[in-house]
Amino acid sequence: MPHAFLGPSYVALTGGRSAYGEVSARLCADSPASAIAWMPRNSGEGDGPGPRCHTGGVSVTTSPFVLPPAALSELGARPFGVYVHVPFCATRCGYCDFNTYTAGELGTAVSPASWLDGLRRELDLAATTLGAPPPADTVFVGGGTPSLLGADGLARVLDAVRDAFGLAADVEVTTESNPESTSPEFFSGLREAGYTRVSLGMQSTAPHVLRVLDRVHTPGRPTQAAAEAREAGFEHVNLDLIYGTPGERTADLRASVEAVLEAGVDHVSAYALIVEEGTALARRVRKGEIPAPDDDVLAADYELIDSMLTDAGLRWYEVSNWAASPSARCRHNLGYWLGGDWWGAGPGAHSHVGGVRWWNVKHPARYASVLADGKLPVAGHEELTDADRHLERVMLELRLADGLPLDALDDAGVREAKQAVDDGLLDRGAAAEGRAVLTDRGRLLADAVVRRLVT
Ligand SMILES: C[S@@+](CC[C@H](N)C(=O)[O-])C[C@H]1O[C@@H](n2cnc3c(N)ncnc32)[C@H](O)[C@@H]1O
Ligand code: SF4
Repeated sequence: MPHAFLGPSYVALTGGRSAYGEVSARLCADSPASAIAWMPRNSGEGDGPGPRCHTGGVSVTTSPFVLPPAALSELGARPFGVYVHVPFCATRCGYCDFNTYTAGELGTAVSPASWLDGLRRELDLAATTLGAPPPADTVFVGGGTPSLLGADGLARVLDAVRDAFGLAADVEVTTESNPESTSPEFFSGLREAGYTRVSLGMQSTAPHVLRVLDRVHTPGRPTQAAAEAREAGFEHVNLDLIYGTPGERTADLRASVEAVLEAGVDHVSAYALIVEEGTALARRVRKGEIPAPDDDVLAADYELIDSMLTDAGLRWYEVSNWAASPSARCRHNLGYWLGGDWWGAGPGAHSHVGGVRWWNVKHPARYASVLADGKLPVAGHEELTDADRHLERVMLELRLADGLPLDALDDAGVREAKQAVDDGLLDRGAAAEGRAVLTDRGRLLADAVVRRLVT
């Protein structure tokens, strides 16, 4: 049993948050500054300037925002995704620090209608900025709580993306949804609008765990919503779980995974609870009201989740993500992990094209007002060096079940990879075929393995 759990953390990259936010934070804290130029906090949803640690090269607000020809020339070489950030939630969960606001926090200044108006303007400006953008291969509407827009609102969101970029013939279109704001009619409406995939936040079936998380939903509603989505014709349905919540027992976690399996979904994301600064959860932990998640418990939880899902035919393809088949993998998130290009629209969203990364202003009122002036709401941008891009590639691809080609590593990295094979962290057979692939034990220590290969 490892004593320092450095493995899977949450990704939304179900649209927004990636495990590598945590990796980068550790690298930044522990590495000589010269070793790390810049790492992103996340890929889709942004909650502040991207860099967590940076040694140079960030520019702040360019208006009008122009992409260098070298970056534009890469467009189309890789899959092109569109992320849309919906910054609304009915209530704030105690653990969540995503860029999202309740109606009470926003007052009358911002509404879903004014946000949609801004989104249309941003996407139109995006199409002009990109010149001749390829049609979107993937669209991911994340949040926040996109389902608060209803099926009609989400149909209008997809129309706006279609009008700006066009959609590839086999486009994957996902929306995140909070189970409480869904219904059979909602899912039918999404299907009619062209959505192909739904991701539902479940977290746990145990009422006492949901209480610690300040998560307002009826136990049982997430799996019922998943069933409704399937009945409406969605082949691809994801459920998100959080594990390691203080007070969660092994039996609670087992029951949550059993419920996920009974729901018959083809994709599961399971995230170790992260105590984010500034959240209600962090305040309770600081006051000593509840303990912080325990590393050994997190590691044991991960092993339990992985073995239950694997036994049921769901295979890991990224440290925090399991799919029933290759076609059930989230192509949009794979785009992030494989260095793809995407336009992130909406307040605080991050984008990447050809080695240039930028991020939008966070507050929905500011977002609307910059767009009303006819400008892109870009808060800052930076150009990644070749070294930055290499580092990100290692960090992200190593977390995939397909792993990373060993020839992507420098000499020191290859030496470390050989040592990691001997230490049981990288798979010997895969290494013999030229790939660095995490073993089961390696997955529990993924961040530490990444650190060894890049420093
Ligand atoms: C930001 S939410 C968006 C989906 C939707 N609002 C919902 O909650 O159902 C996406 C997922 O991120 C995960 N998440 C958010 N904050 C987290 C944290 N502090 N630790 C672990 N997972 C977290 C949750 O599993 C959640 O379902
Ligand atoms: S509903 Fe989702 S986005 Fe909103 S606060 Fe809760 S976890 Fe965060």
